Amino acid sequence: MDTPITFNEDVDSWKTVMFLYNSALKEVGTKLEILRDEFQYIHKYNPIEYIKSRIKEPESIVKKLKRNGYESTIDNMVTYVKDIAGIRIVCSFTSDIYRLAEMIGKQNDLTVVSVKDYIKNPKDSGYKSYHMLVTVPIFLSDRVVDTKVEIQIRTIAMDFWASLEHKIYYKFEGNAPEYISRDLRECAGIVSMLDAKMLSLNEAILQAKEEQEEEQELNKDT
Ligand code: GTP
Ligand code: MG
Repeated sequence: MDTPITFNEDVDSWKTVMFLYNSALKEVGTKLEILRDEFQYIHKYNPIEYIKSRIKEPESIVKKLKRNGYESTIDNMVTYVKDIAGIRIVCSFTSDIYRLAEMIGKQNDLTVVSVKDYIKNPKDSGYKSYHMLVTVPIFLSDRVVDTKVEIQIRTIAMDFWASLEHKIYYKFEGNAPEYISRDLRECAGIVSMLDAKMLSLNEAILQAKEEQEEEQELNKDT
């Protein structure tokens, strides 16, 4: 007679944790929207191209636990799987990434648990992104639960590379021929060059625009 009760309790706690992760995504998503709107309002510029969020599929959660040698329990998943709730912020320029990361870090009700800067230290695959693991307090009627959200911040170019690499990785289940991995790493280098070029181009555009405006002001006066 014990089994059905345990089963029901598991279903209940599964539903509760999923509710928490969904709520955490909403909280962090709203915070990011507010930061973006305020940035637009102050600087007349939107550093965010788009934001995507997702809850990890149960199948992927179980796979990850197994891969890391843990039993599939709700306790283990809450403790060891740090990206059940994930948000990806795709920015225009590399400079936007650090600006956003700083803004996120300053939010008083978010706790930054860890940061992985795969832009300064790219992965062997060539992968680049800025990762932040944060917790956000979720206020339930009888308690407050700090809930983990993985935030990935990257440029459009880095996102383009990562999406393709992810597809190829899955096609080969991690066993891609060496020349493909090598070409992918080479593409990662091209992507970084493109990002650097776009950033300096943007700086040149802003400067040229400023000079034009100054000139127009001067002409108005004379
Ligand atoms: P995971 O077990 O993959 O989550 O790695 P981790 O716990 O060591 O965390 P890490 O910060 O390294 O990676 C977390 C996430 O970053 C992954 O789930 C992917 O979304 C992304 N990521 C990391 N490395 C790569 C990579 O080489 N290629 C791609 N496309 N994405 C990556
Ligand atoms: Mg992951």
